[in-house]
Amino acid sequence: MSRIPEVIVVVGAQWGDEGKGKEVDYQAETADLVIRANGGANAGHTVENHLGKFAMHLIPVGILNPDADNLIGNGVGLSLTASLKEHADLKKRGVSTERLYISSKAQLTFPYHQTIDGLQEERRDTSKIGTTGTGNGPTYMDKAERSGIRAGVLRDRKRAMDLLHEVLKGKTALYYPNGGAPDTFNPEYYEKLIREACEVFGEKVINPTPFLAIHFSKGSRILVEGAHGALLDIDNGTYPFVTSSSCTVGGVLNAAEIPPSLLTSAIGVFKAFSTRVGEGPFVTELDDDSAEELRKKGDEYGTTTGRPRRIGWFDAVASRYSQQINHFNHVVISKLDTLIGISPQLCDEYALGNTVLRDFPSDSETLAKCIPVYREGNYFPKLEGDISGMQHWNDLPENVQRYAIALVRSIGDNFQSITIGTGSRREDRITFK
Ligand code: GDP
Ligand code: IMO
Ligand code: MG
Repeated sequence: MSRIPEVIVVVGAQWGDEGKGKEVDYQAETADLVIRANGGANAGHTVENHLGKFAMHLIPVGILNPDADNLIGNGVGLSLTASLKEHADLKKRGVSTERLYISSKAQLTFPYHQTIDGLQEERRDTSKIGTTGTGNGPTYMDKAERSGIRAGVLRDRKRAMDLLHEVLKGKTALYYPNGGAPDTFNPEYYEKLIREACEVFGEKVINPTPFLAIHFSKGSRILVEGAHGALLDIDNGTYPFVTSSSCTVGGVLNAAEIPPSLLTSAIGVFKAFSTRVGEGPFVTELDDDSAEELRKKGDEYGTTTGRPRRIGWFDAVASRYSQQINHFNHVVISKLDTLIGISPQLCDEYALGNTVLRDFPSDSETLAKCIPVYREGNYFPKLEGDISGMQHWNDLPENVQRYAIALVRSIGDNFQSITIGTGSRREDRITFK
């Protein structure tokens, strides 16, 4: 008789870099299958455990658990150059990739996507997005246009090269009608890359449907690793300053080919303050010394691009919206330890002209005009005490507890569990129910 699987989804609840990697690493310890659902080489998930420190981009974080299967899911934009490098680096560090599988339905990202990413960003004038330059947007453009090349072709080198010839002919006519196309638009440029990708990944490409069916019937513990953050979601985020994939709980389930009715737990990872990389409105953004202090203390520089992250106070208006679109039943508040020595503030409302807003505006133009409101009671005294690595709620100083409680309450109630991050290592956490 078939058993019922357990499906746990981990999603970033803000603008990315909330500490999803750390949470996925913790959950993956007991997972049978980890599926990276969406996004591509634009993601950077940092993990620190007994094996060392890893910056993961495309290979599921669960690869660090030798007892779990790992699947690069349908919704991923798989950069061949980035994944081959990541794969080689992991092997060099002694991590087995034997149990890595790639869905034949995942889209492939090629260097020409990166060229186009750069061209588009150059051509944008006042509406620059500040992309990671990894070719992610153009990959999903091709997917939606139905001209994308999927990972299934890695089982057939000739077919892969034929498709590249066809696609690049069209792209050259579109982007370089008067000549002058760079090497990345020349099919010959791809001979070596395709050969290597077919050799390394060809055998790993699978039809995900029967593979998932076996995990479903075995009653596996399945972990879905979301990339980016809900406010960068293509449909629900701060459009157009978003990424090009679906980053919410609903979006990543579909991207991972998991029916929503199988969902057991939706874990939302919020950072105890806000960060954002790239352009787009950021109501609680700080541009004073406290921003630099937090950036330095929290090492807030992009895992993928090294760009300094923009810094702001915790934004409860944005976070409540995130809670509404994701309905998390478990919440993680990361990096509380980073706020020690700082007097944090919490923005619970926005002001728009003379109007007070409690709901997150639905368009970026309005959002850009909002200013944060910090009411009395939402200015906190300096958080004191060394909490790094703490694992018990009762050990936290009272002033830190007070801030954590205020923060969680500002998002919502009825969470089945609350986890506080007290450091970057897997075990640096306090969970209570
Ligand atoms: P992700 O993209 O959501 O996986 O997050 P990133 O890895 O891009 O950025 C989060 C950073 O915060 C990483 O350097 C993590 O190691 C670190 N981190 C995560 N949780 C905590 C925490 O609770 N405390 C501290 N000090 N660092 C944390
Ligand atoms: P993780 O998974 C933070 C941002 C970029 C840019 C916008 C569009 O590590 O949390 P893209 O290259 O996707 O077309 O860029 O989205 N962005 C991220 N910001 N963390 C990420 O991933 C991000 N992925 C994309 O900075 O503003
Ligand atoms: Mg990141």
